[in-house]
Amino acid sequence: MKTECSMLFLLFSFVTAFVFNNEIETGYKQVGDKFKTLLWKYLSKTSKPGVIDFLDFEEHLKSLKAHKKPSFGDYYILRGSLNIPYAEIVEPFSAWIDFEAGDSRIDFYGGMMKTYQLANEGDYGVMYRVAPMTTETVQNEMNCFQITGAGDSPVAPQGVIPDLDDFEHVSDEVIEGEDCQVWRNITTSGDKTNTYTLWLKKQDGHAVPVRYEMKGFNNILGSHYDHYYIDYEEFSPEKPDSGVFKVEGVATSCHEFPGPGLDHVYTFNPMKEFIYYHDKHVEDNFDQFKRHHKRNYHNETEQESRKNVFRHNLRYIHSKNRANLSFRLGVNHLADRTQAELKVLRGKQKSSGGYNGGLPFKYTKKELRDVPKAFDWRLRGAVTPVRDQSVCGSCWSFGTAGAIEGALFVKTGKLVAVSQQVYFSTDFVDFSSTFC
Ligand SMILES: *[C@@H]1O[C@H](CO)[C@@H](O)[C@H](O)[C@H]1NC(C)=O
Ligand SMILES: *[C@@H]1O[C@H](CO)[C@@H](O)[C@H](O)[C@H]1NC(C)=O
Ligand SMILES: *[C@@H]1O[C@H](CO)[C@@H](O)[C@H](O)[C@H]1NC(C)=O
Repeated sequence: MKTECSMLFLLFSFVTAFVFNNEIETGYKQVGDKFKTLLWKYLSKTSKPGVIDFLDFEEHLKSLKAHKKPSFGDYYILRGSLNIPYAEIVEPFSAWIDFEAGDSRIDFYGGMMKTYQLANEGDYGVMYRVAPMTTETVQNEMNCFQITGAGDSPVAPQGVIPDLDDFEHVSDEVIEGEDCQVWRNITTSGDKTNTYTLWLKKQDGHAVPVRYEMKGFNNILGSHYDHYYIDYEEFSPEKPDSGVFKVEGVATSCHEFPGPGLDHVYTFNPMKEFIYYHDKHVEDNFDQFKRHHKRNYHNETEQESRKNVFRHNLRYIHSKNRANLSFRLGVNHLADRTQAELKVLRGKQKSSGGYNGGLPFKYTKKELRDVPKAFDWRLRGAVTPVRDQSVCGSCWSFGTAGAIEGALFVKTGKLVAVSQQVYFSTDFVDFSSTFC
């Protein structure tokens, strides 16, 4: 039996060495891997000394393979979507990457926001961001901002596929009917263990990315603190036309971006966080948030979990702002709270489901056909400033006050801020009501 195994092993070495040499020339061959899998199954069953040799050989093969990682080339064009389940984000993007020329461009939400990272412009490169902007004076005007690189922070092209240098080929899997190789890197730092996985397939002799996923586990919290993945939908290993790197769609020249650099990563190069493991902007923003809102967490554990909530809220804020929606989000004192905590603040009064004394809506559908698409009562002076109910849980009184203020304005032309407090104070008849 021993001899049989050794013979088999010799045969295997010969065949694999042949297949492997061939691999070096022409890229990975499915045949090689399938053969190895079959042989592996056979040898595992026999559990004889030959298996040990096989394991050594497999190690040897791995170390040889390490020198020949699949590469996505010096340039490519692709389309994909960034998915962040915790922040409920699915963000489509298109990317044109040319490492050879030092240029990259990534558009988000079908071009609602365009970002450019051009390494060869000026001494240290320039980043641009083009997006529609609405202010007190202009509506949806395309605006361009720029950030000039510096000696200590030069601009570099931003890829959208991770570098496989530190990854290992761990297995093969079928994803959506396609044979894929699974490449993985597990990094442990402090209390965190991050698992990065890239699925790729071979197409026309090229490596083509299929999906990239990050899962971060925090050992102190005993839970996953991060999870995001990128689905790659279209990949083409072609050199982008240099024309796509010309900043487009802007009538006026680009303005230098004002203010401190805390949000640069979020607004000028969001992919840096997801592809190049960039975390400093989260740390910096969180430190600023803590100072500004005078946060004093009880212990390390709470601080860590607050920071993670903050991380996901910031991703949500910036992703929504990239989407050219009719509103813009910003960081306020609630940015380190979870959805469950915020829900408690919003409060809700259960209704009995029966008739509540309200009057029927008096206009017919036909009458409503001619109303304008948008009508902003703020511009006509009918709305008082935003008020914050804090921990009050009395949304009903704020809603009522707003409706009465508006109706009073329409009737009298005078804007009077009515008091929520009066409602709570007169609500003692029924003690089940919420007030503060
Ligand atoms: C942004 O949205 C506004 C309003 O829907 C629209 O008029 C405008 O064209 C959009 N901008 C871009 C770049 O698509
Ligand atoms: C993962 O990548 C890091 C560097 O980013 C490297 O130090 C580490 O050895 C890699 N781990 C594995 C399992 O390849
Ligand atoms: C940390 O503080 C939280 C309260 O915010 C508490 O629930 C938790 O038990 C504390 N953990 C330790 C290890 O002291």
